[in-house]
Amino acid sequence: MKFFIDTADINEIRKAREFGILDGVTTNPSLVSKVKRPYLEVLTEIAREIEGPVSAEVIATDSAGIVREARELAKIGGNVVIKVPLIAEGLKAVKTLSGEGIKTNVTLCFNALQALMAAKAGATYISPFVGRLDDIASEGMEVVEEIMTIYDNYGFDTEIIVASVRNPLHIKYAAMMGAHIATIPYSVFESIVKHPLTDIGLAKFLEDYKKVPK
Ligand code: G3P
Repeated sequence: MKFFIDTADINEIRKAREFGILDGVTTNPSLVSKVKRPYLEVLTEIAREIEGPVSAEVIATDSAGIVREARELAKIGGNVVIKVPLIAEGLKAVKTLSGEGIKTNVTLCFNALQALMAAKAGATYISPFVGRLDDIASEGMEVVEEIMTIYDNYGFDTEIIVASVRNPLHIKYAAMMGAHIATIPYSVFESIVKHPLTDIGLAKFLEDYKKVPK
């Protein structure tokens, strides 16, 4: 299972990378807006910092515009993946981009049939937003399970990025289902390594070590 970090903040990316288990980065316009610097400048800095895939989202909503913007974003670096919204115009653009060998991450996916359409269009990645589904009393992780079944049935290569992750359980269930990737906000990334019994146990071991004759 791969771990991506869901942020446009270079400091969070650097801190997450220090864990030694970071495989990539996803961003979106909302995340970039928090950084308060120009869009392309932020994406370029991230793509240079990280070897793994970096998702950069288009702003255009018509297929010709998406393709134009995607080609420009792809010039930032070989690791840039173009994030395209899951709308009809987006799917048309994904089909064109996949034909050109440009990798895509189809975003704002909220059901399994949308994910099926994205895979048929040739998406490299699909991003179901589990947290936003939970927010409206739908089961986000059920959608992931359905996508896994459909992709397995037909042998699609499209990788599932569990997105809109809000808590450690999203990651645990994603891993149990065998989802390829979870994209995780830094706060959750940091929290999943921690357990109070680990800290208590370690403190006791270190205390007891002092009693060992030197
Ligand atoms: O990368 C997009 C996605 O993860 C958004 O998450 O928390 O805004 O629903 P959130």
